[in-house]
Amino acid sequence: MEIQNELQVPSHVAIIMDGNGRWARRRGMPRKMGHVEGCKVVEQTVRDAADLGISYLTVYAFSTENWKRSEDEVSALMQLFRIYIKKLLKVATEKNVKVVMIGERSRFAPDLIEGLNELEEKTKDNTRMTFVIAINYGARDEIRRGMTRMAQDVKEGKLEPDSITEQTINGYLDTAGLPDPDLLIRTSGELRLSNFLLWQLAYTELYVTDVLWPDFNKDCLVEAIRSYGKRERRFGGVLK
Ligand code: IPE
Ligand code: IPE
Ligand code: MG
Repeated sequence: MEIQNELQVPSHVAIIMDGNGRWARRRGMPRKMGHVEGCKVVEQTVRDAADLGISYLTVYAFSTENWKRSEDEVSALMQLFRIYIKKLLKVATEKNVKVVMIGERSRFAPDLIEGLNELEEKTKDNTRMTFVIAINYGARDEIRRGMTRMAQDVKEGKLEPDSITEQTINGYLDTAGLPDPDLLIRTSGELRLSNFLLWQLAYTELYVTDVLWPDFNKDCLVEAIRSYGKRERRFGGVLK
């Protein structure tokens, strides 16, 4: 509670969870062990974010580019998603968290799609925090899919090209109805966006830490929030 009072907690925190492979390699373990640890940290971070009063937490769990990894690693990740869908349902129910998935789910195995649909359906009325998981997500793919639907609506006469606003575009993205992130955290020190939320991050504050994702904890989250709280957010040179 004390922490909460002195912290200026952003409403929407997004995280690029990176460094699982390096974490494992440093311990002489296979990369997938890094993902096993990383999943535990996701579960704990959902709890911590809800406790800190964050309203929206978005995490990048699997990108459209991650399919290029070895078959062994991809199948280990799919297996972990299966396990964590069940664990997340428990955490979400306990913490009153609504879970939403962004990304293109049709590429996953049928049982995984069913699990994701069920997780969303069973938590849809929860109100404390919204937890957004990006899997098989790529911002360019999201924009491509959204623009295809928009073009179809124009073709069918449901949408006038002259009436398209930024809000209209928001409505065609996977994140329709969600606010833009206030703070983006990337772990493991990489200074790039890796095709994450390219439209939505237009004015988001960035925070990069060298901590590898499996070592990320509540103190790291609080430190990122503290750094955010010290900044003067500006839009076009004007204070927010
Ligand atoms: C992030 O860790 C997890 C996923 C992208 C699924 P990495 O697996 O990218 O770990 P590094 O970057 O190789 O250390
Ligand atoms: C970004 O991490 C994707 C996720 C965290 C899921 P990567 O480790 O895949 O990033 P790049 O593609 O190497 O930049
Ligand atoms: Mg990586």
